[in-house]
Amino acid sequence: MRVTLADTPPAATTCDLLALAVPEPGTLGGDAAAVDKQLGGRLAAAAREDGFTGKRGRTLLLHALDAPFRRVLLVGTGRGRDVEAVRRFAAAAARQAGGVQAKRIAIASILDDAAGGFSGSPAEEYVRAAAEGAGLAAYRFDRYRSAEDQAPDETVVLARGDRGALTRALRRAEVAVAATCRARDLVNEPANVVTPTALADLAREIAARDGLDCRVIDLDEARQMGMGLFAAVAAGSEQPPKFIVLDYRPARSAAGASRTVALCGKGITFDTGGYSIKTANGMMTMKSDMAGAAAVLGAMGALKELAVPVRVLGVVAASENMISGRATRPGDVVRALGGKTVEINNTDAEGRLVLGDAVAFAAREGAAEIIDLATLTGACVIALGDHTAGLMSNDQPLADRLLAAAQASGEQLWQLPMYDEFAEAMRSDVADLKNSAGREAGAERGAAFIGAFVGTTPWAHLDIAGPAFAEDRKGPPYVPLGGTGYGVRTLLRYLEAGSGK
Ligand code: BES
Ligand code: MN
Ligand code: ZN
Repeated sequence: MRVTLADTPPAATTCDLLALAVPEPGTLGGDAAAVDKQLGGRLAAAAREDGFTGKRGRTLLLHALDAPFRRVLLVGTGRGRDVEAVRRFAAAAARQAGGVQAKRIAIASILDDAAGGFSGSPAEEYVRAAAEGAGLAAYRFDRYRSAEDQAPDETVVLARGDRGALTRALRRAEVAVAATCRARDLVNEPANVVTPTALADLAREIAARDGLDCRVIDLDEARQMGMGLFAAVAAGSEQPPKFIVLDYRPARSAAGASRTVALCGKGITFDTGGYSIKTANGMMTMKSDMAGAAAVLGAMGALKELAVPVRVLGVVAASENMISGRATRPGDVVRALGGKTVEINNTDAEGRLVLGDAVAFAAREGAAEIIDLATLTGACVIALGDHTAGLMSNDQPLADRLLAAAQASGEQLWQLPMYDEFAEAMRSDVADLKNSAGREAGAERGAAFIGAFVGTTPWAHLDIAGPAFAEDRKGPPYVPLGGTGYGVRTLLRYLEAGSGK
């Protein structure tokens, strides 16, 4: 779907569906009032008749109008007047448009201050949010079946203001949407298609297109380098694992002298649990266990277009977690990159193993800060639910910058503590560390294990086990079933700003 910008008055905009946001208590103001006036009061009359009060999520569709626009859709935005309300409004409009075969839709009223509508952020933020909401809602994964409805072909965002600035905002939204949808596709593709080899091929493709460096480390080389944790997870799989490194350097040499941010993604293309095997049900969605890697690859493929001003190292530890005569046994002791020994007392705690080697690698490469993303623990889902990721960090300024980026992108992120006792719980009687320890503080202990391999580098861990994969549609209207692409937009926000420093 294309997203364009226009500054025509809504009432004069030719389209199949004109969407207007209406806050509670449902009084029509701003663009909605102007459109109502042109329609001789029919909009207000219909709202009154249907008891439409602007409650969030409620919509009202009017048809066969003698106007340039063929339909009007009122979308209740409740009392929320922030950028996220606009993102959801545009998404709700794009979703409804699919159901009525509207090809060209127009999003109006996003800068409606007069109506007590939206205020408080610059116009660019609203345009960006509208374009993101509509674009993300138009996503379909229909490679293996025909879609039930067609997404609109074009969304026109109606806004007046500094045309250059608004166009740049729209452009950034489009890039972020494309990157998110690429991550969604990677998660939605089954594990027989998205293998570690497929992820490596994609990384090479991104590198060739955007001029990044790409290095793919295979199992033998990983073993030689000392990445015994990564190798232990891969041991049971017929699919060759791939340790993938993408290197983005900003164009201008002055900026090139700046710091390096490393993004590390958990890329378990299928998690059976290994010999600490999962139940049939527990395995059901485990093709999504590479969602952290998908977010990293999605983001890496957008850095050039966004002219991100810092060097970014993308590290993807890709492997299956399977069983076989060569698979790791519970109780096996292995050596991590950097020399620490680990007792693998639970082969299903494999994400922290591959990430332990990944963050150690990133630190060794001279990263000034490390951000890892992983569908790491069920415990994080129990703590925060399906729509919120957990953030754990050894550096509060870094955590604060990430929280701000998440807030701006509408991705829900909540910080959990990193007390010393969590690292202490991961000590083993037979090795330096064990990879699992009881059920208490499961998300924090998992994070603490990874944190044991970053040294003193500022590091943040995003446990995205909840929001990475949607099994229902109870989230925001721009989140589809299946892979959500969670994390991509937060990462891009963060990196666009030069990682905040
Ligand atoms: N990939 C899972 C975590 C997960 C669970 C993600 C549900 C998404 C939905 C991870 O590898 C895992 O199995 N974690 C274990 C850790 C435990 C053995 C310490 C868990 O959460 O039970
Ligand atoms: Mn597991
Ligand atoms: Zn896993």
